[in-house]
Amino acid sequence: LNNHNHNHHFRHADSTASPPSSAVAKISHLKAVVLGGAPASEEDDVVLPSHDYSRQALVPSQQKYLEMYKASIENPAGFWSGIASSEFYWKQRWGDQVYSENLDVRRGNIKIEWFKGGITNVCYNCLDRNIGAGLADKIALYWESNEPGFDATLTYSQLLQRVCQLANYLRSVGVRKGDAVVVYLPMLMELPITMLACARIGAVHSVVFAGFSSESLAQRIVDCKPKVVITCNAVKRGPKTIFLKDIVDAALIDSDNQGISREKTKWKEGRDIWWEDVVPKYPTSCDVEWVDAEDPLFLLYTSGSTGKPKGVLHTTGGYMVYTATTFKYAFDYKDSDVYWCTADCGWITGHSYVTYGPMLNGATVLLYEGAPSYPDPGRCWDIVDKYKVTIFYTTPTLVRSLIRDGDEASYFSNLYVTRYSRKSLRVLGSAGEPINPIGGSRCPISDTWWQTETGGFMITPLPGAWPQKPGSATFPFFGVQPVIVDEKGVELDGECSGYLCVKSSWPGAFRTLYGDHERYETTYFKPFPGYYFTGDGCRRDKDGYHWLTGRVDDVINVSGRRIGTAEVESALVSHPQCAEAAVVGVEHQVKGQGIYAFVTPVEGISYSEELRKSLTLTVRTQIGAFAAPDKIHWAPALPKTRSGKIMRRILRKIAARQLDELGDTSTLTDPGVVDQLIKLADT
Ligand code: WTA
Repeated sequence: LNNHNHNHHFRHADSTASPPSSAVAKISHLKAVVLGGAPASEEDDVVLPSHDYSRQALVPSQQKYLEMYKASIENPAGFWSGIASSEFYWKQRWGDQVYSENLDVRRGNIKIEWFKGGITNVCYNCLDRNIGAGLADKIALYWESNEPGFDATLTYSQLLQRVCQLANYLRSVGVRKGDAVVVYLPMLMELPITMLACARIGAVHSVVFAGFSSESLAQRIVDCKPKVVITCNAVKRGPKTIFLKDIVDAALIDSDNQGISREKTKWKEGRDIWWEDVVPKYPTSCDVEWVDAEDPLFLLYTSGSTGKPKGVLHTTGGYMVYTATTFKYAFDYKDSDVYWCTADCGWITGHSYVTYGPMLNGATVLLYEGAPSYPDPGRCWDIVDKYKVTIFYTTPTLVRSLIRDGDEASYFSNLYVTRYSRKSLRVLGSAGEPINPIGGSRCPISDTWWQTETGGFMITPLPGAWPQKPGSATFPFFGVQPVIVDEKGVELDGECSGYLCVKSSWPGAFRTLYGDHERYETTYFKPFPGYYFTGDGCRRDKDGYHWLTGRVDDVINVSGRRIGTAEVESALVSHPQCAEAAVVGVEHQVKGQGIYAFVTPVEGISYSEELRKSLTLTVRTQIGAFAAPDKIHWAPALPKTRSGKIMRRILRKIAARQLDELGDTSTLTDPGVVDQLIKLADT
């Protein structure tokens, strides 16, 4: 795709939607009646939805939530089949069982199936069904370029035509049901178009975030063996131009060396194909490939505790029903909304809440190509006003990055913000990290907790229904049964804190790790038999609110992006002058967590600025710029137990400079290592 010519985009007509404005009263020390009837803790701030807001909300009260939640838990089959049959199109209804599951490793293989035997298509449900319901001329996509002043729109019927052309093209080059397609695109309309085109023909898309390096891309290509890779020549992010096609070319050479046979990759024998030369020649209608609810929809690679990224596999029917339903309730969706999610489609948030969830609801979705603070830190609010955005879903990192100097009062009273009215905003959403409440308290904030693996929101406020406690993701979504267990896997009751697990399946759950069901079982279901283990710690307060306390494994969350410390370590040790490396997360003002690397150079090599730069470059080329360490700490040796295990607990304390909390170091082979590390901390 040629993405340096913006002329084919046209300016949009001013949106006329003017959503109701709302107010939320912020009341401290309020006694609210919540789950189980216990009063909210005195010490917490509680934010009540305003009466006006609640009156028009889909779930207008706690009572209503509790009623629906209870129904969803007592009779999951009835609850979900009711939604599935009334709100979606099925070519053929599922079999006798709405779902079947085994989440207990002691009882055999882990299996989760929803709506098995049901025949449908997600693209049809996003486009054809909504067009049939009268949305043909509704704006489906607004696209805002990195450069202010360039934009474009597509209505639902125009979007369908574009999707069909690409679907026809993909079929013409031999892409069939079940084949993988790798997508390496920035936030252009062509990205959701590609996802939907794949879904239409039953192909399995695997979107790779366009910030990953060619080596990471190659690794994913080798794993899922796509028939086609779709990319564009270049993208502008802020003032920088990134040449994506060059990265793909390098990745293809890499994956070739790693053994993709010629027959399988015939398409690369010819010349690369320009999307805009070829795709528009194809017909604008395209037959749907009807698929089983349990046929795969997409693969998305994510980081785990060990080096190799995991191909999280989501299937069709359950994912469709779950993302659409969570979108609708967590954002209290109305037909008049203009929805903007700042996530990139390269991550799960972009899959579930840029493309599928909103489109299944027939929503108007805004895509922004560029950097949030380009050309200045007011760009987001400029975009909010320009399109009259009503629902804004973002990450705490993005907001912190705008505030830069850490002074929120001065940012929000600055011209960057005050020259925009932002009055269209109705609901704010946040994901990926714990959020500290920021700004005015006019809009309800949905702090959504979920994961690539869960497909959709798991613990989230429903605006209008609940008194909120800022910083808490509050209560489970319908059908979700979170449990907190101790290290022995015993469920804890009442006020408690421990490991967050989930009991029973929900429709949006991932079904396997691509090509490695054993790793799926080991990572997620063996640690606490009988439960899905999330990898997160969680506290439940005495009012039943959930407070996420971060990962308990070797995964870190940098700017809301998941990175395995092992991935960064293996990149570092691939450097010829690096003997050993240990990576931990450390608190970071803007990114939430930063990457802190302890590095031992090979013998005879001394610490130098040059080596530091060269190590950082290695990580950038092997993973991507976003994984570059924030700090490299020289380590003559690493603290290890007698069995050779690196004591990360100690490294985390050193990284955080909590030197009086190092704990017991007597089990180390050489406790002196710790003193050496402390001495070298600021070199
Ligand atoms: C973290 C992103 C606190 C958590 C959607 C989880 C959160 C990981 C929240 C998944 C939240 C996600 N509050 N922490 N609201 N949402 N997390 O797969 O540690 O990229 O396990 O999915 O992000 O990251 P992933």
